[in-house]
Amino acid sequence: MSNRRSFLVKSSAAAAVVSLDSALVACGGGNSTKPAQFTYGVASGDPLADRVILWTYAKIPDSTTPVNLTWQVCVDTSFAAGKVVSTGTLVADSSTGFTAKVDATGLTPGVSYYYRFVDGAGVSSPVGITRTLPAANANSVKLAVFSCSLYSAGFFNVYDAALTSDAQYAIHLGDYIYEYGVGGFGDASGTTGRAAPVPAKDIVTLADYRARYAQYRSDANLQALHAKMPWITVWDDHEFANNAFVTGAQNHNATQGDWAVRKNNAATAYHEWMPIRTESSNLLKIYRSFDFGGLLSLHMLDTRIEGRVQQYGFYGDPANADGSAYNYADYVGGIQTGADANRTMISKTQLDWLTGRFNASTAPWQILGNQDIMGRMWFPASVLGAQAAKGATADSVGQAVGAYIMAKATPAAARSAEQAGLANPLVNPRLPYNLDSWDGYPLQREGILRTASAMKKNLVAISGDSHNAWFNNLSLLDGTKVGYEFAGSSVTSPGFESVGLGAFAPFVDGSYVTKSYGSGMGLVDDVNYADTSRRGYLLLTVTATSVKGDYVFVDTIGSSKYTATIGKSITVNLDKSVSYA
Ligand SMILES: [Fe+2]
Repeated sequence: MSNRRSFLVKSSAAAAVVSLDSALVACGGGNSTKPAQFTYGVASGDPLADRVILWTYAKIPDSTTPVNLTWQVCVDTSFAAGKVVSTGTLVADSSTGFTAKVDATGLTPGVSYYYRFVDGAGVSSPVGITRTLPAANANSVKLAVFSCSLYSAGFFNVYDAALTSDAQYAIHLGDYIYEYGVGGFGDASGTTGRAAPVPAKDIVTLADYRARYAQYRSDANLQALHAKMPWITVWDDHEFANNAFVTGAQNHNATQGDWAVRKNNAATAYHEWMPIRTESSNLLKIYRSFDFGGLLSLHMLDTRIEGRVQQYGFYGDPANADGSAYNYADYVGGIQTGADANRTMISKTQLDWLTGRFNASTAPWQILGNQDIMGRMWFPASVLGAQAAKGATADSVGQAVGAYIMAKATPAAARSAEQAGLANPLVNPRLPYNLDSWDGYPLQREGILRTASAMKKNLVAISGDSHNAWFNNLSLLDGTKVGYEFAGSSVTSPGFESVGLGAFAPFVDGSYVTKSYGSGMGLVDDVNYADTSRRGYLLLTVTATSVKGDYVFVDTIGSSKYTATIGKSITVNLDKSVSYA
């Protein structure tokens, strides 16, 4: 157990003792009110310079009586009068599934605080630590960036690893929960000893979604990380259902009722359980910005639920959700034609908002907190075809990879006819492999990149969804490099290795062949680094002159005993130069 964690546990215990004393004083030693239990701990989130959302769950066992709570924010763990800087009351009741949250205001910028909730019987929640955003003159900001945390896939060692880091704020880019039941995607509960999904079936009703969040938040590592620092979160598809979009989802069918009802259930539970600043008039609007002390503006997008036109599937899908197979020819060179030209991941309203935020920010770094891979993941058609072929194996895909790289690395005059075909992009085009990501909506991506470029912004995207780690160029269709993308691996969800492509990474980014044949020989031009086999998170350090991403990986999620290591450190500088360590 780390020192920091011990401290957190100890301060919780100390706070409980303090509150017990005050309860005895207040009640004269007697207590007719049954105490509430804070079963899922505390959380904080959406920090601004003067305020932060505080969250808890409080319920009296075997009772539906509303629980009256006092919340307190204090400069230390004494919670003594005169040191409490923000306080008030709120209620946890059945209307919110006994979750409760409040926007604690009147705080000082860039300061760490302790907070807790106390019930009418004087019983205290665990004590959490939170932090406001710096208002100006920050030297550096440290963010721990997560995505794709499938409880039944394995242990949340990645959250525990971040607990011992020096991160100040946690960012979760979505797939905080998954909707599947027992035996669904990535369920390893049968082999790891991890509990099976609760409820056992796909979640659909509000009660289902609430129960699923409760299961996730019963995890000690997740609770501890929520208690340690404020989180800034957005949802991706699995907080709703796989490959969701505005009017449906791949994993939603008629027996599960109306999509709009399910979507509202999912959004309601999300707002109940996550420490997010909720606009109660529109639960589906979660895109928002955060300004960190003049260093960076973080724009959290919703590319999933708010404005997404239905996606096409992966290369080789025989039929997509709408019955169509996408037309490869439309995607050659990333150009969409016809009706596809209007495909959007975010609404015009959100796009206009983002443009306005770019325009208003004077920070040296504009960071897009975004669900899906934004860089161009264009693979050679020969490799995608081998991967999608019936009976594909790691060997057969590997052969296609090798043939392509050898063809490219062979001087043109020395190529065989077959190699000449493989190397010729008109014969063997580079195609996006996942049209659920920004690659399926390239014109809208192009617009955002051009806007940032025209405004001379230093653009960095942080992305989740893919379950693997990437560092990509953000390029215009004409090849102009506009910015970079740090995409962290998943907390637990299975990645490329689950389909036999764990050894794929050095071929994707070209690091395997660069030594022999020179740079630019990888499968995917805009990928500079990849890890296609390990779970982890991204530790981002932002200063006025650089953004450094440490790709932290754990060696296992199959047991709660693990080792964490930094797999790669990549630094982006203001002049767009990059260094690797
Ligand atoms: Fe995911």
